[in-house]
Amino acid sequence: MRQTRGIDGSAGDVDYGEIGASYARFRQPEPLIAAQIHRALGNAQAVLNVGAGAGSYEPEDREVTAVEPSASMRAQRPAHLVRAIDAVAEDLPFDDDSFDASMASVTVHQWSDLEKGLAEMQRVTRGPTVLLVCDPAQMHEYWLSDYIPEVRENEARRFPAIERLVAALGGNGRIEPVPIPLGCRDGFNEAYYGRPEMFLDPNARLACSSWSLVPEEAVGRFVRTLSRDLESGRWDKEYGHLRTQPFFNGPLRLVIGNPGAVH
Ligand SMILES: C[S@@+](CC[C@H](N)C(=O)[O-])C[C@H]1O[C@@H](n2cnc3c(N)ncnc32)[C@H](O)[C@@H]1O
Repeated sequence: MRQTRGIDGSAGDVDYGEIGASYARFRQPEPLIAAQIHRALGNAQAVLNVGAGAGSYEPEDREVTAVEPSASMRAQRPAHLVRAIDAVAEDLPFDDDSFDASMASVTVHQWSDLEKGLAEMQRVTRGPTVLLVCDPAQMHEYWLSDYIPEVRENEARRFPAIERLVAALGGNGRIEPVPIPLGCRDGFNEAYYGRPEMFLDPNARLACSSWSLVPEEAVGRFVRTLSRDLESGRWDKEYGHLRTQPFFNGPLRLVIGNPGAVH
C-alpha cells in the first residue's frame, strides 16, 4: 500500500486526481443503501464521515464532519454538504469522544494502516462506527469474475477480511448483508449485475478504482469478449435472468462496531 499522498493529496492506492472526474457522475448514493447506513448510525446527531469523497451516504439531517484527503474528491462535494477537512483516517484531528457516531463508506481498503485508522475512528467516537465494505471472500460469486478475474482478484486482495475489521473494532461488531437493487445508482462493480452494457462505457469503469489497477490488455480483452457475448446472446443465455432480478446479494456488507451504543 502506497504510504505517500498523490498529486491531489490522495492517500490511498489510487490517485483520485486521475480518476476523480467521472466519479461523481457514476457514483451517486443508492437510497436503499443510504437508509441502511443511516439506520445503523442510530439517532446520532454529531456524525464523522471518514474518506468522505464526494459525500455519498452522508446523512443530511445530522451534524456532519467530513474528512477527505483527495483535493479532487473534496472539490466534487455538492455545495449543500459541509466542506471536507483535509486529513487521513490514521491521524484524525479531533479530540477523544467528539462524535456520537462515525462512518466510513468504501474507503477502509485504501488506508495505509487499517488498524490505526479504525482505532482513530473509535477514539473520536462515543457510539457506533459504521463501515460499508466488500467481503473479499465473496468476490468471485459474480459473473464479472468469468470475464475479467483480474479486477475481482484485485478487489479481493485490496479489501480486508471481515474478521480483521471486526477484530479491529474491538470484537463486538455486527455484520449486515447489504442487498444491491437492480438499477443501483452507485456504480460500483456489482451495481451492474443486471446491466452488463454499462461495463462497455470506459467512464463507468473508471469510476471504480479497481479498473485503473489492471493492465490495459486485460481491459481490452474484457471489452471485446463481453461485446461479442452480448451481441451473440451468449451472456443472456447464461446470466439473462439477472436483468430482472430485483436484488443481488453480493459481497457488500455493513460492519458496525460498538452497535449497542446507539445514542
Ligand atoms: C471509493 S472512495 C469512497 C468515497 C465515499 N466514502 C463514497 O462512499 O462514495 C474512497 C475514498 O477514500 C479516500 N481515502 C483514501 N485513503 C484514505 C485515508 N488514509 N484516510 C481517509 N480517506 C482515505 C479516498 O481519497 C477516496 O475519496
